[in-house]
Amino acid sequence: MLSGSKVPPVSDLRQLQAAIDEVFQEDHVNIEYVSALLSAYKSNSRDWACYAKFDPHKYTRNLVSRGNGKYNLMVLCWSEGQASSIHSHAGSHCFMKVLSGSLKELKYDWPDSSRQSEMTVREENLLQINDVAYINDSLGLHRMENPNHTECAVSLHLYSPSFSECTVFDQRTSRQTCSRVTFWSIYGRRASPDSLLAPDPTDSPEHKERGEELAEK
Ligand SMILES: [Fe+2]
Repeated sequence: MLSGSKVPPVSDLRQLQAAIDEVFQEDHVNIEYVSALLSAYKSNSRDWACYAKFDPHKYTRNLVSRGNGKYNLMVLCWSEGQASSIHSHAGSHCFMKVLSGSLKELKYDWPDSSRQSEMTVREENLLQINDVAYINDSLGLHRMENPNHTECAVSLHLYSPSFSECTVFDQRTSRQTCSRVTFWSIYGRRASPDSLLAPDPTDSPEHKERGEELAEK
């Protein structure tokens, strides 16, 4: 799994998880290799349909694996036109792969915190099925959206290390807010409907200021 190493065959999601588990036994995260693994897996809805839970009001985050504490792997479900806030990634690696439909990624620079100003898009990428993308805080901020208003989208996200809070940004003013991230379902089962709390206390929900939740991230 060193840089330049050939990726093994990845015929289904279980094989992908096994290969990722092996990578994350080491402390160093080889971004190129993990991206290649995600690319090697060709989306098959039979693998991930049990995690694909949609909500008509917001996109959902559905936990697939806690990666032995090294990472979180999750399926995000985007109904027509749903989008995330502009957000950071809490210093973690963020890998994503489109499993169904398409997603638009809008990238932004970190705003100047000393003044209120509108955040402008630096880069726009349209990700199609099986495309893989990567971001971390040193590369900037982003916002994800399902640009299609007639079809849903599904994506696979890997965050390492996992995190329970990130920063979201108001596009008009650059105002920053801390947001806790939550799971709609865990291992294919609906998370607590009262609180959306994950069993792991580090996954507790609730937006600190506005009662909103981010998600994707
Ligand atoms: Fe993100």
